[in-house]
Amino acid sequence: EHERTFVMVKPDGVQRGLIGDIVSRFEDRGLKMVGGKFMQIDQELAEEHYGEHEDKPFFDGLVDFITSGPVFAMVWEGQDATRQVRTMMGETDPAESAPGTIRGDYGLDLGRNVIHGSDHEDEGANEREIELFFDEDELVDWDQID
Ligand code: CMP
Repeated sequence: EHERTFVMVKPDGVQRGLIGDIVSRFEDRGLKMVGGKFMQIDQELAEEHYGEHEDKPFFDGLVDFITSGPVFAMVWEGQDATRQVRTMMGETDPAESAPGTIRGDYGLDLGRNVIHGSDHEDEGANEREIELFFDEDELVDWDQID
């Protein structure tokens, strides 16, 4: 399915200078960026974005971390974009991620895992997260460009 997916370089990835590498990987794979925003997430947006984890013991730490510095939020488009991005990111736990994946190449810490991508098993997660971070007029429609 040709689709859009939400992806975000987390504060640790930004601080370590990994934005360019991460963007390059998705470009090289053949996905198209249709939106990008360098921003700092506030408490309210963090709590909404991570709402499904509200009851987890790591929730407060997760919100503190994601609001601790700038992130680079993106929307990528392409064939099976959600699943492709998930595969390229690796497992949620970097320690379980294969070398060659983004988390497998750059991390070992479950909380500071460099990048977020929409869950492909959660129907609607993509559009929900895209809407949360972007207005529709901030997204490019490549079909309209000649
Ligand atoms: P992400 O894909 O952004 O979605 C939820 C995040 O919660 C996840 O990446 C991890 O960074 C974090 N997370 C998941 N499980 C734990 C945990 N047990 N302890 C700390 N952070 C966690």
